[in-house]
Amino acid sequence: MKLAMVGTGYVGLVSGTCFAEFGIDVVCVDKDLSKIETLNKGGIPIFEPGLEDLVAKQVKAGRLSFTTNLTDAVKGADAVFIAVGTPPRPEDGHADLSYVYQAAKEVAALAEGYTVIVTKSTVPVGTAREVEKIVAQHKKPNVTIDVCSNPEFLREGAAINDFMRPDRVVIGTESEKAAQVMREIYRPLYINETPMVVTSPESSEIIKYAANAFLATKITFINEIANLCETTGGNVQHVAKAIGLDGRIGSKFLHAGPGYGGSCFPKDTLALTQTGQMKDTPQTIVESVVAANANRQYDMAQRVIKACGGSVTGKKIGILGVAFKPNTDDVRDAPALVIIPELQKAGAIIVAHDPEAREEASHHLSDVEWQDDPYNVAKNADALAIITEWNEYRALDMARIAGSMHEKRLVDMRNIYKPEEMEKLNFHYVSIGRAEIVPDGVEALRKVS
Ligand code: UDX
Repeated sequence: MKLAMVGTGYVGLVSGTCFAEFGIDVVCVDKDLSKIETLNKGGIPIFEPGLEDLVAKQVKAGRLSFTTNLTDAVKGADAVFIAVGTPPRPEDGHADLSYVYQAAKEVAALAEGYTVIVTKSTVPVGTAREVEKIVAQHKKPNVTIDVCSNPEFLREGAAINDFMRPDRVVIGTESEKAAQVMREIYRPLYINETPMVVTSPESSEIIKYAANAFLATKITFINEIANLCETTGGNVQHVAKAIGLDGRIGSKFLHAGPGYGGSCFPKDTLALTQTGQMKDTPQTIVESVVAANANRQYDMAQRVIKACGGSVTGKKIGILGVAFKPNTDDVRDAPALVIIPELQKAGAIIVAHDPEAREEASHHLSDVEWQDDPYNVAKNADALAIITEWNEYRALDMARIAGSMHEKRLVDMRNIYKPEEMEKLNFHYVSIGRAEIVPDGVEALRKVS
């Protein structure tokens, strides 16, 4: 079995490497020469735990290689996966599918024997049909090519595990022969009894969006319940635990926080609402989710301002974590990219730390004083806001932090600390969906004002 993976971005590189780990010969192709050179030198252009070692292992085993030459990659490949980017079009925000179509055209023209062209990138429903048409126009007359949709469900930071131990594999094709090739590719998982859902290309494409939109809805739902807990005296962690114990609901993705971010949920929820509008079948729940999540990120900045007594003008606000979640350097649609500029607009001086995402974030944020050590972020700060729940923030010496701050105010947007402990340290402690801890002195001041 031989595969070509077109596109060595996040999805392509992880998938190609993991297929090699399955024992398949994989050639990864990219038009970006510098990326291929980096990979050929053993470098990894993205941050993903475990990926560098796995790439090195597979390259050494001779199963994984990198090239800019599509002709070589497609030659003799049983399947060619398209994992190129689908960035939003500047004019209307719709996914730009031109790279997918261009790749399909080139691959179709090069294929010399039976080949399955697989769309791995997240693409709107109907794309596989378009690819089929393009392939029919450009393939050699005597060559049969089938098209298949095979969405990925990889979480950044856990992508290798998600690939190796998925909840399911989705295969969208009407060709039994293509389905057989796909089953063969995923055989190691089949042996592990991973469910394989073989369906139409349309269902397969919708599955990807429906899964992400459902998860984003779950997060947004618990975030709104957290708001209700705050205004009524409830505790969202208790509520989430109890409702999550109902097997029909499930305990995952019920962590209230500053709103979801990342490269998938914001883009995919928006794309689903756009498809719904275009097809005259509005996705009203997801439309509400998109709006509620956007508001939430602004509200988080307001929380910090409120904790500071209604104004942050000239105040030093320490920020812990700018990545959209831990274990990644990715800041795409990260709540921090909304919260920090909002605080700056309100006059705050921002000092920030992130274990991995500082460089990425500095392309999107200005006037931030970056620190290499979280303790320096807290020093003389008027408030400290935890936006990303990196493990290293869970183990901070909070007594030391409290002692070094100008005002002991902590806005914990991920609920990583225990309110009782923060109370003992005399913090003014604001978390999500739990009672605010206001030290006596601050309360007395509030009453006076
Ligand atoms: C997600 C999907 O999980 C994955 O299946 C899909 O293929 C791509 O999108 P990813 O974006 O890497 O993966 O991150 P994920 O761990 O799902 O988190 C997404 C966002 O939701 C983050 O901003 C995270 O902080 C937030 N989140 C997640 C919550 O606020 N609460 C939760 O309970 C879970």
